[in-house]
Amino acid sequence: MAVAWNDSYSFGHNKVDEERRKIFDIANQFAARRDLIAARAALAKLAEYSRILFHTEETLIFASLGQQEYNKHAHSHRVLMKHVNEITLMDLDGKPQDEKVFVQKTAAILEMWIFNHFIHEDPKVRPALLKAAQKVFDHSKAG
Ligand SMILES: [Fe+2]
Repeated sequence: MAVAWNDSYSFGHNKVDEERRKIFDIANQFAARRDLIAARAALAKLAEYSRILFHTEETLIFASLGQQEYNKHAHSHRVLMKHVNEITLMDLDGKPQDEKVFVQKTAAILEMWIFNHFIHEDPKVRPALLKAAQKVFDHSKAG
């Protein structure tokens, strides 16, 4: 599953888009090999990426989004992180019991992340995120 960045995915803020593009790099590096090593690398990067990106995203949208919308979006982040953790746990003993399933589940979480969360869920918080990003990033650039 090689995926390409499309300008329609852009939020229109360089710093935010730069972060958002990283998920495509992770997915494409995995897709180039689609094996145990690539799956392990992708999961490690997803774990790190999700901690940083979700924290940034949630911090930015917290002030501008209604409580219910915020909770819903933050919950969808937790679900993605839960899946990454569950798949990673399959590999804790040094080798997953079923390597093929491990690789397939890694592909599935990347697809879910990009084709569900990234393309359908993130745009719902785009206005709130952009509003806050412009204040935070552009203010720090000016100062
Ligand atoms: Fe999100």
